[in-house]
Amino acid sequence: MKHSIVTSHTISHEVIATINTQRREVFGDDFSGDFEIDPTPTNNRLFMLVEDGHDLKAFGTLQSVQLTISDVSYVVRGIGNIVAIERGGGFGRYLMESIRTYLQDTEQIGLGFCAPHLVDFYNGCGYTVTTDYTSRFRFQDDTLNPTSYVLWFDPIGDFDHQLRQSQDFIYSNQPFW
Ligand SMILES: CC(C)(COP(=O)(O)OP(=O)(O)OC[C@H]1O[C@@H](n2cnc3c(N)ncnc32)[C@H](O)[C@@H]1OP(=O)(O)O)[C@@H](O)C(=O)NCCC(=O)NCCS
Repeated sequence: MKHSIVTSHTISHEVIATINTQRREVFGDDFSGDFEIDPTPTNNRLFMLVEDGHDLKAFGTLQSVQLTISDVSYVVRGIGNIVAIERGGGFGRYLMESIRTYLQDTEQIGLGFCAPHLVDFYNGCGYTVTTDYTSRFRFQDDTLNPTSYVLWFDPIGDFDHQLRQSQDFIYSNQPFW
């Protein structure tokens, strides 16, 4: 098993096609649309890929997201599209651990949302999972993901403290990623 990080500029046509097919199968058609190869270099969206031999086994995305709380902005990595193509073989855990290592090495906060039945999975992979802040997340005037748990990994360790400082809304510059 190995992992790699590619950008939406460097990802291959074959891999992005597999990811788009899997996303549609797992999350449904009403998602934000297929990912496309970006013609210009950018690292706004990263893809974490887990492969076994030449087979893609799991993937997830890390989207650059700006969060603003009471005029203070944080650039975080929005964790999304977490999928193990082959389930129950440890690929999902390896994916989330690889994302954690990347966040640790680059000193970035990673933050996403998940359904209640996945709380144990993310906890087991070393992420904090809570509903404490769910209702405060906003994109424009709408709640970001009203029924979900918020999950994050913070290598620096004071994000939770910053969130607790106020009850203000946490504005995202992106719709749910
Ligand atoms: C969630 C998902 C990524 C897990 O990947 P996976 O490769 O099947 O998980 P692993 O084999 O690495 O399991 C790791 C651990 O998590 C547990 N686990 C896996 N799926 C779980 C689930 N749905 N609920 C609770 N625990 C789960 C496993 O039992 C295992 O525990 P253990 O190490 O104590 O034995 C995978 O089920 C998936 O792709 N689901 C559909 C897409 C999805 O819902 N993505 C999340 C969006 S927020």
